Amino acid sequence: MDTTLRDNINWVGYVDWTVRDFHSFETTRGATYNSYLIRDEKTALIDTVKARYARELLKNVANLTDPSKVDYLICNHAEPDHASAIPQVLKELPNATLVCNQKCYQTLDKFSDTSDWKTKIISNGESLSLGKHTLQFIETPMVHWPESMFTYVPEEKILFSMDAFGQHIASSGRFDDEVDMCAVMQEAKSYYANIVMPYGKQVAGVLKKAADLDIEMIATSHGVIWRSHIDKIISAYKNWSRFRPAAKVLIVYDTMWESTAQMARAIHAGASISGVDAQLVHIRRSGLTALATEALDAAAIAFGSATLNRGMMPMAAAGLAYLEGLRPTGKVGFAFGSYGWGKGAAEAIDERLKVMKLEMLREPLKAQYRPSKSVLDECHTAGQELAKNAKQMASDWK
Ligand code: FEO
Repeated sequence: MDTTLRDNINWVGYVDWTVRDFHSFETTRGATYNSYLIRDEKTALIDTVKARYARELLKNVANLTDPSKVDYLICNHAEPDHASAIPQVLKELPNATLVCNQKCYQTLDKFSDTSDWKTKIISNGESLSLGKHTLQFIETPMVHWPESMFTYVPEEKILFSMDAFGQHIASSGRFDDEVDMCAVMQEAKSYYANIVMPYGKQVAGVLKKAADLDIEMIATSHGVIWRSHIDKIISAYKNWSRFRPAAKVLIVYDTMWESTAQMARAIHAGASISGVDAQLVHIRRSGLTALATEALDAAAIAFGSATLNRGMMPMAAAGLAYLEGLRPTGKVGFAFGSYGWGKGAAEAIDERLKVMKLEMLREPLKAQYRPSKSVLDECHTAGQELAKNAKQMASDWK
């Protein structure tokens, strides 16, 4: 495995082939926690890994240098997947000073006992010379934690971007041109949707900062290092951060005795004949991670559930709660669902979609026990209406 970014700059992280749950994010392709070592007159380690993989990180460092020669440990982000190994790593790097911003230090201090750490607090725009290389620190608040920060090395045109531009994908290649690009972009989209989506404005600000930098490599904290497809990921981030709508309709549902499923399929059929990308998502089978990923660029969403105990089914409720937190914006849609003797699900979903500020195209579409032919026809027509709106929104987008 080639771990060399440039002479004396190496990846020293951990590839986690088996992880499938990352705080509820389904990591079907595994993940990596990327750390980097820069050897110069002074030696710096940039970020660490999850605590349980500290030993592997330290082994990778020791293969390149005497651990006592590491002068700095840069922490770009305090979340435990990158920072929980710090206590153990600092014990094994006796001469290392932790370098981070004030907010990062305050956060690390809540997670760990920092009393015996040597620490250097830096500010936005500050630089630290290693000799031939300079580390420039660029704060990126709320992308996606308050203390988040980039480290830029101008002499090598490398941006160490922590979570930004990352993907949960385990691979034997460390660089974007060594791994299937379709899979990488799919995982980059999933990562953005599930982790970064609420912070589109902050991402737009970060992209402006990045535009001022001369970048030949983006060394993210997860997944592959970008060196051949930088334009592709920057362009995708521009679109995702602004919720660029695709001509795409998402029909999300849960069903009890197939009545809501029949409605969902009729809506899907109506959307499908209208020349858009129509996606049918059974929320209990597809899960929350896929829901967020598909919702990111869908212009239109129909959300349905059978009625259970005067409300919606549990996974439909979970899906709406998850989406509400991720704050997708600029979408149209409607609620649908079946009921028996008491109404509930479609009305409850309608309320929640309104809280999420979806532009509602119609009143909730409902069926008692089984959708009649006329209800299914109405579903079909509603699907066409969703598609018409989606196409218009995609073509109007500037
Ligand atoms: Fe990969 Fe926000 O941690």
